[in-house]
Amino acid sequence: MKTIVIYSSKTGFTLKYAKKLSEELNGELINVKDIKKRTRDFSHFNKTVKVNPGQLIVFACGLTSRDDQIKIQEIKKANHLETTPFYYFTGGVDYSQLGFASKSLLKMICNSIKKDPQGDQMMAARLEKSGDYTDLDLLKEMIEQIKNK
Ligand SMILES: Cc1cc2nc3c(=O)[nH]c(=O)nc-3n(C[C@H](O)[C@H](O)[C@H](O)COP(=O)(O)O)c2cc1C
Repeated sequence: MKTIVIYSSKTGFTLKYAKKLSEELNGELINVKDIKKRTRDFSHFNKTVKVNPGQLIVFACGLTSRDDQIKIQEIKKANHLETTPFYYFTGGVDYSQLGFASKSLLKMICNSIKKDPQGDQMMAARLEKSGDYTDLDLLKEMIEQIKNK
C-alpha cells in the first residue's frame, strides 16, 4: 500500500515529523498547499481528497503538553477526528519566522495561561522564547501502526 504524508507547516516543526514519516514509510511527502482544493477542516478535506477513512491516520503538532489529554481530545473533536487514529506531537516555536500578529497572539496565549492556576504551565514556559521541542522518537508507534495496516 502506498503511503502519502500530507502536511502543513508554518515554521518547519511539523515538516520535521512529516519528513521522517515519509522516509520511514517510503512514502510521498506532499505539502497541503500543493493540493488543488484547499480546505479548512479534516472532514471537508477527507471528502475532497477521497481518502478511505480506514486508511487515514492523523497527527498534529503543537506546544500544548502531551499530558493535557483534555486539550488533545478537544483538538480531535474540533477537527471531527473522533473515530480517526490520531497522534499528537510536541513542536516548537521560532519567533524569528513569525510576523507581528502571530508573535502578539502567542504572547497573549502565554499571558492568559500564566494567569490561570489550572493552565498548562509547560506550554506557557515554552512560549516564552524560541525553542525546538520536537522528538522524532514519538513517531515510533504511529509508524508501527501504519506498517501493520
Ligand atoms: C499564531 C500561533 C498560534 C498557535 N496556537 C497554538 C495552540 O492553540 N495550541 C498549541 O498547542 N500550539 C499553538 N501554536 C504552536 C504551534 O502549534 C507550534 O509552534 C508548532 O510546532 C508549529 O509547527 P509548524 O512550524 O510546523 O507550523 C501556535 C503557534 C502560532 C504561531
